[in-house]
Amino acid sequence: MQLLQFLALATAVSPLVSAHPGHHEEDASPELKSYKSHVRRSAESCSFHWEQSGQKARAIARRQATIDMHRRRLSKKDTSKVLNTSHYESNIDLNSPFEEIWSADSIPLNPEGESGPYWVVGERLRSNILESQPGVPVIIEEQYIDIETCEPITDMFAEIWGCNATGVYSGLVADGNGNTADTANHDTTFLRGIQRTDEDGVVTFLTLFPGHYDGRTTHHHVVAHLNTTLLPNNTLAGGYTPHIGQFFYDQDLIEKVESTYPYNTNKIPQTHNSVDRVFSQETEDSTSDPVLHYAYLGDKIEDGIFAWVQVAINTTAQHYPYYTNVLTDDGGKNVTGTDCGDYTVIDGGLCDTGSSSK
Ligand SMILES: *[C@@H]1O[C@H](CO)[C@@H](O)[C@H](O)[C@H]1NC(C)=O
Ligand SMILES: *[C@@H]1O[C@H](CO)[C@@H](O)[C@H](O)[C@H]1NC(C)=O
Ligand SMILES: *[C@@H]1O[C@H](CO)[C@@H](O)[C@H](O)[C@H]1NC(C)=O
Ligand SMILES: *[C@@H]1O[C@H](CO)[C@@H](O)[C@H](O)[C@H]1NC(C)=O
Ligand SMILES: *[C@@H]1O[C@H](CO)[C@@H](O)[C@H](O)[C@H]1NC(C)=O
Ligand SMILES: *[C@@H]1O[C@H](CO)[C@@H](O)[C@H](O)[C@H]1NC(C)=O
Repeated sequence: MQLLQFLALATAVSPLVSAHPGHHEEDASPELKSYKSHVRRSAESCSFHWEQSGQKARAIARRQATIDMHRRRLSKKDTSKVLNTSHYESNIDLNSPFEEIWSADSIPLNPEGESGPYWVVGERLRSNILESQPGVPVIIEEQYIDIETCEPITDMFAEIWGCNATGVYSGLVADGNGNTADTANHDTTFLRGIQRTDEDGVVTFLTLFPGHYDGRTTHHHVVAHLNTTLLPNNTLAGGYTPHIGQFFYDQDLIEKVESTYPYNTNKIPQTHNSVDRVFSQETEDSTSDPVLHYAYLGDKIEDGIFAWVQVAINTTAQHYPYYTNVLTDDGGKNVTGTDCGDYTVIDGGLCDTGSSSK
């Protein structure tokens, strides 16, 4: 495929970024601030509606079924061990009533965040994005709610990506992203994928608990797509982005995961939630909670966790994630400009060093 064709595809998939050369949406614009305060008011009225409409009861039943299914899968794999072990005192989560586990549920607003430079345009629809990445598996359930109507957002495409246990993203070669000599990483797609929301506004991914890299706490990236076309090869074209965000984990959970193999082979110093720039940006408002709720699937962390979040968003808002790489039928390509030393944003030729918020 020709570069011009990439550009055409890429431009069709994402509207142009307005103008933040060298910066990654580090300072919330006045528009973003006013958006946040609007949406906060709507989020408060959603919690009541949520309970009344029966959505809360359905959420409890759905998550219980998902977790039961995955726990059955685990116990089958490990029958002799399960048979020989008494679980009664060993894991409080396994024995807690589900009502209790889910009762903390409310509808926190998932605030608008930033996409960083490592969104790869053109990923495929698939629920299992783990591929063969080692580490702690995570089943993530995301439920999207329309901030205006408090109803689930159906038929929306929700995309997720994250780094692997040693802090490397698939699909690109760049300084600060693993070994730059490993150019094969351009064609990898691990831990990236897209799902279409169902009638409850829900998507589910099997992915990996992310590791960490320099300067950022552990996080997943998400962008939502509306008014987009599903192509025959299971990728998207066109549409707009009503939401860009990042999901986080409790620090104590991160510490537990980081103490396991292969996370513990990563020598890059950790950045904690408490000092992470994006974490603080996304939690500055008390109605925002971008931290994933979770439960253990088995009796040790390596068995995996189930994590869930509700995301209330404004479907008519339009945000503009930028990117420097695309996945094509000919593998991963970086989108290079003529004069930019490092990265090029497809933004009328503006360049971006991509160093501050991957
Ligand atoms: C949603 O976004 C639209 C367009 O930006 C805006 O007019 C509307 O006020 C927003 N709604 C809420 C609840 O923030
Ligand atoms: C379970 O018990 C059987 C019989 O005592 C033993 O042969 C087997 O090794 C045990 N398995 C585990 C995982 O402990
Ligand atoms: C993470 O991905 C990179 C690039 O493919 C790979 O070299 C590295 O081994 C992976 N980390 C683990 C723990 O497998
Ligand atoms: C949705 O897509 C159609 C056709 O591609 C376009 O004409 C329309 O303006 C789009 N709507 C929005 C809200 O982007
Ligand atoms: C999917 O199809 C589109 C349209 O033909 C093409 O541009 C794109 O490269 C394809 N993507 C993949 C991953 O094959
Ligand atoms: C683009 O990809 C090539 C080949 O994988 C790599 O050598 C180069 O550093 C990349 N350039 C940018 C700007 O990411």
